[in-house]
Amino acid sequence: MLTSEAISPDKVRALGGAFGFLALGKATGVTTVEQGMNVAAEGGMLAVRVVQDGLIRVKLFTAEESGQPGMASTIAIVEDAASKEPAFTVEEEESAYVLTTELLRVGVDKEDGSVTFAEIGGMVVARQRGLLWNDLGAVTARFAASETVRYYGLGEKTGGLDKRGERYEMWNSDVYAPHVPEIDALYQSIPLLVVHEEEATYGLFLDNPGRTCFDMRSEGDGFLIQSETGSFDYYFIAGPAMKEVVGRYTSLTGRMELPPQWALGYHQSRYSYMSQDEVLELARTFREKDIPCDVIYLDIHYMEGYRVFTFDPVRFPDPRSMIAELKSMGIRIVPIVDPGVKLDLNYEVFREGVTAGYFCRKPSGEPFVGPVWPGQSVFPDFTEDAVSRWWGDLHTFYTEMGIEGAWNDMNEPAVFNESKTMDIDTIHGNNGSPVTHGEIHNLYGLLMSKATFEGLGRHLGGNRPFVLTRAGYAGIQRYAAVWTGDNRSFWEHMAMAMPMVLNLGLSGVSFAGPDIGGFAHHCSGELLARWTQMGALFPYCRNHSELSSIRQEPWSFGPEIEAICREYIGLRYRLMPLIYSVFRESAETGLPVIRPLVLEYPDDPSVANLSDQFLLGDSLLVAPIYRAGTDHRAVYLPSGRWQDYWTGETLEGGRHVLAYAPLDKLPLYVKAGGIIPHADVASSTMEWLSGSDSEEAAAGASVLSIDLYGGGAAESIFDYYEDDGLTVDYRGGSYYSARLSLREAEGIATFRVQLVRSGYAGGRVNWRLTFKGLSFLPHQVGVKRSGEGRDLAAADGDWTPVQAAEWQYDKVAGELTIEIDRPMDSIEITVRAHS
Ligand code: GLC
Repeated sequence: MLTSEAISPDKVRALGGAFGFLALGKATGVTTVEQGMNVAAEGGMLAVRVVQDGLIRVKLFTAEESGQPGMASTIAIVEDAASKEPAFTVEEEESAYVLTTELLRVGVDKEDGSVTFAEIGGMVVARQRGLLWNDLGAVTARFAASETVRYYGLGEKTGGLDKRGERYEMWNSDVYAPHVPEIDALYQSIPLLVVHEEEATYGLFLDNPGRTCFDMRSEGDGFLIQSETGSFDYYFIAGPAMKEVVGRYTSLTGRMELPPQWALGYHQSRYSYMSQDEVLELARTFREKDIPCDVIYLDIHYMEGYRVFTFDPVRFPDPRSMIAELKSMGIRIVPIVDPGVKLDLNYEVFREGVTAGYFCRKPSGEPFVGPVWPGQSVFPDFTEDAVSRWWGDLHTFYTEMGIEGAWNDMNEPAVFNESKTMDIDTIHGNNGSPVTHGEIHNLYGLLMSKATFEGLGRHLGGNRPFVLTRAGYAGIQRYAAVWTGDNRSFWEHMAMAMPMVLNLGLSGVSFAGPDIGGFAHHCSGELLARWTQMGALFPYCRNHSELSSIRQEPWSFGPEIEAICREYIGLRYRLMPLIYSVFRESAETGLPVIRPLVLEYPDDPSVANLSDQFLLGDSLLVAPIYRAGTDHRAVYLPSGRWQDYWTGETLEGGRHVLAYAPLDKLPLYVKAGGIIPHADVASSTMEWLSGSDSEEAAAGASVLSIDLYGGGAAESIFDYYEDDGLTVDYRGGSYYSARLSLREAEGIATFRVQLVRSGYAGGRVNWRLTFKGLSFLPHQVGVKRSGEGRDLAAADGDWTPVQAAEWQYDKVAGELTIEIDRPMDSIEITVRAHS
């Protein structure tokens, strides 16, 4: 609790002393360089670089730095992001130095060094009006914006979807409480602002892992971006659509690797499951109660005195056999691994690290020591490649027992001291170019997850690793999934998880989710039921709770709540073919798994700040109930036709509808043209793996149901993807992929399968297609095959009727079903009305 002292005049601090007083001033000359231009000015120099067409980097060098302009980037930027030979020209015009690419025209004004980003046609997309700095190195950039601007992105932040009127700092912080709108820094720092103007959307990414700030509040006609230390190095990311901004941003900072399918299952956690017996009992309860579950977490009590890479010999006497037994039940273990290494001369990890000089040091050369769970601890210096390698290899302790994932917590890093983290003058070796902690604070968690991901990857014999992290920086998606830290069992926190995870998705981090049920405080049955409904359709799905809170496993609140949890966790497994395909799309394109409606309907003003419903992929609309005692809610359906997922009722969009949702119902809608692949429920994704013991499971696992929602006059597309779900063999082409499309017009529904790759023979080889909501009575069904390498267009006329016995029409439900073998060529199926 804070007292009024918190607002004492001495305590009010503005980042870097607000606006500063040094400026670029008049631009005096230009030099063309390999990737762009350097514009000299009275007060410094601006380096403008073409990374790719549509991606422009601008870096400020103050007068003192202009001598040797270093263009090194942080690790956020992927190595191959830059085009090898970008095409551009540099010209001097009367009032500006201008760099032109095929898509953009970037002008640096001669009068004041301000920068304008315009489309080739002339429309100005973004205007950076000035750069000011002070003698401590803090920089402020002002950008212009219109009155109708909307802001998104910024990673993991409190508040609504649209960040207009907000101000946030980027400083990875261990915030146990409170997660309220005025807490402007949580665990992740992703300095990407997505600016959505009526004419175009663009992004600004400030690549600075020190303390930075985005202020959309203080300037009436624009916004400020500020840095406290390090270089002012930003990227302008062109749209014009939001999807293109996200695509370009993730081509710059990378995309997630396809996770193992088990990591997409349901995860159960608790701080802590205290013993081997308790963990095994928990797993058996999931199986007895027939509730799907793929992962159980071990929180800090599994360790001996909180020493990472150990097991407590009394609580967990035989972890190896526990892990084997769990695996036979389809459940994997993910242990917590914090960065703090106990200062203890009898502890091998400490001894090894301190002898090799692997821990972060104070300016005096001594290791930085601070208290965390194990007591006084030291912290690996992950900026050094040798340390990351060492840390990664320490994970053989786990992999040799059959563990394939790790949970990285407290990696801001959190320290139980006044500043809540490492002293900012702590030194990081940084492979020979030392930096202070203050300059790279926000990178610590990313570097730890990178070391962990790569270390696990080296020791899993070709299986995909899974890392979960609390802290991160831009690019974290390449190494880890993100959970949103210590939320509470409050309805408000359930509601806030939607805009938070949606903005994480727009910031490149697709694989994210909150602790379902809330971490701290005490959950109720109703809250758990509603939160499980929502969480089941989030990218990352884990129920986790704190030591002293009441239990919140799915059965903790009696049979009614248990049945609801079973149903919705089951729904996640039934929808796994959809979820997995959308994950693949995200890994390929960077588009988020769950999406704010504004991403799909950017011109619809009703969705600009719609923070309480979302799309899974582009067709399944999820509208959770997130208030106590509520069984109705308004749902906004964008224009077009929609179907109620549960009842099949057709609804016209472009309006709000009132959804009736008693406790066991999550309102779900499918867009006309929606293609939703699904499967039979399983108790674990392991049941679906080829080589699964149970014949019954293997037979069920071979069926893929694809629901085809009619009524879409325009062609809709879904990229279906399948592989072994476990290994990295897909990288070499061992996968099945097909572009599915659907169209219904003038009494003909056409479903096409355009084969992309048939490199995976296992999995779901029997397809059951169900046309739903057809607007006509079907009379005839036919199929056209490309065969022998022809494409479908060349197969024109080869239409073969499917015998009436081979398709079924359910008049009451209005559904037509056909079973086919998984196409190994492109095919087209048409359903026709009586002509
Ligand atoms: C932190 C984590 C939480 C974990 C706890 C104990 O508070 O955020 O998830 O359970 O530490 O390890």
